[in-house]
Amino acid sequence: MFRDDLLAGKRILVTGGGTGLGKSMGRRFVELGASLVICGRRTEVLEATAAEFRAVTGGTVTTHGLDIRDASAVETMIEAIWADGPLDALVNNAAGNFVARTEDLSPRAIDAVLGIVLHGSAYATLACGKRWLAAGHKATVLSIVTTYAWTGSGFVVPSAMAKAGVLAMTRSLAVEWGRRGVRLNAIAPGPFPTPGAWERLVPKPEFARACETSNPLGRPGEHIELANLASFLLADEAGYINGECVTIDGGEWLQGAGQFNFLRKMSDADWAAARPKKS
Ligand code: HXC
Repeated sequence: MFRDDLLAGKRILVTGGGTGLGKSMGRRFVELGASLVICGRRTEVLEATAAEFRAVTGGTVTTHGLDIRDASAVETMIEAIWADGPLDALVNNAAGNFVARTEDLSPRAIDAVLGIVLHGSAYATLACGKRWLAAGHKATVLSIVTTYAWTGSGFVVPSAMAKAGVLAMTRSLAVEWGRRGVRLNAIAPGPFPTPGAWERLVPKPEFARACETSNPLGRPGEHIELANLASFLLADEAGYINGECVTIDGGEWLQGAGQFNFLRKMSDADWAAARPKKS
């Protein structure tokens, strides 16, 4: 789909890059020639991922263990990264989420999700952004949000609040920083199964299939499809895309929005019977 060197010469940080979608995107970036930095809470997981990528691709991968909710830890990491040279791209991927009835949430539960998703994305974006602006360094930020950033969703309310905030940050800074060489975009993935997300978001095993297949394409997303979209948006060739949020969900959210979409349940016989008879 791409030239093998699409991202050659780019240094990219993926937050939460040790597992799940962050890992899948990071792997693709390295395959396309990027030098990768991944961060997350569990250093042993990061190290295992980095070793795997190095073995398969021969690319450069470095790791930083930190909790993205800690602003000073983020600043320390970015300072350490910049000591070896500037980043060219940041992918705000680290997320925290679980399903719960909203009335059951404690303040700490709300803070945990908002801290990881909203505050963590803001800390990382600002730590990179102020350095890029000061140096006049051309760069890009890609944030992973979700379609319920604009539709809202019950049972994941802190995540919906946080993702909506990250989308607002993306659109706001796209305008504020665009003229100064920094463009910001977002991706809203639909059902891309990962062990981390499904363990927290699918309370009964029998719901998994419905989560994955109740979209117009009838299948879950493949990680490579998301990774390719992310690679495209980070590439210089996508340089005029700024402030956009690209949905990659098989049409899932539109199906929930259209008033008559429930008619998908109609069979051919139902449609034939529903057609007015010619007089
Ligand atoms: C109610 C819960 C809960 C649950 C945790 N809490 N799980 N409350 N129902 N299921 C509460 C705890 O009781 C505690 O409050 C508070 O949340 C913090 O929990 P801790 O376990 O102490 O926090 P921490 O170890 O920091 O873990 C953070 C986390 C955890 C967000 C709760 O799930 C996590 O680390 N997640 C990271 C990975 C992740 O979530 N990946 C999935 C992202 S998927 P009290 O008051 O009891 O102390 C995603 C997809 C979106 O974002 C799009 C989908 C289509």
